[in-house]
Amino acid sequence: MTDNAKGAFRNVIFQGDSVARMRAMPSGIVDFILTDPPYLVNYRGRDGRTVRNDDNAAWLRPAFNQMHRVLKDGGFAVSFYAWNRIDLFMAAWKAAGFRPVGHIIFRKSYASSSRFVRYTHEAAYLLAKGDAKLPHQPIPDVIDMPYSGNRMHPTQKPVAALLPLVHAFCPPGGLVLDPFAGSGSSLVAAQHLGRDWLGMELDEVHAATASRRLAYWGEKRAA
Ligand SMILES: C[S@@+](CC[C@H](N)C(=O)[O-])C[C@H]1O[C@@H](n2cnc3c(N)ncnc32)[C@H](O)[C@@H]1O
Repeated sequence: MTDNAKGAFRNVIFQGDSVARMRAMPSGIVDFILTDPPYLVNYRGRDGRTVRNDDNAAWLRPAFNQMHRVLKDGGFAVSFYAWNRIDLFMAAWKAAGFRPVGHIIFRKSYASSSRFVRYTHEAAYLLAKGDAKLPHQPIPDVIDMPYSGNRMHPTQKPVAALLPLVHAFCPPGGLVLDPFAGSGSSLVAAQHLGRDWLGMELDEVHAATASRRLAYWGEKRAA
């Protein structure tokens, strides 16, 4: 594939199914994957909003297989997941070829719900492909997560909590992929740090939100 063709996968949001989109990509062109996929918990917010594909796992293994293929050898992926679906997620990550090399806790100042305990954290695994090198200065595996407000997406992640991950695991000028982009928070983090970004999102409204956000912050950077 020519450099021009590879450029077709930089700084763009694709609206549609990310499994199909990734299948059309060359192997090994992504430097870092930062993704917050559906949690498989049939999410319904207090305001009634839902998340597409949160009610079935048909996409899970195909999606992580493709993520592993498009990631460069020695690259990292950070994937959020739901603690009560860890069996499904871990099986998919390992079947795809990923090696779990870290577990990151995002400490929230609020509870997303309260049942047997007050649920005040989010979690993600750091996954490696192949011969990943140790970082010179490892980041802590506990990161503060302020409330995003969920104004642009029902499960919107705050950009501030994602910045350290992009900084640590994507080299300057590298390409960050989020195949479950939602409102584009991970891509905004990549853009803020001068990395290239590639987003995929099934939902038309969220894909449009992400495109607007990236265009807005892109203009701010250029100004
Ligand atoms: C947990 S949300 C991501 C929210 C995002 N982190 C943010 O800050 O806005 C997961 C997203 O994956 C999308 N999605 C579900 N299945 C998909 C698929 N097959 N291809 C692309 N996007 C998909 C959903 O529409 C949803 O917006």
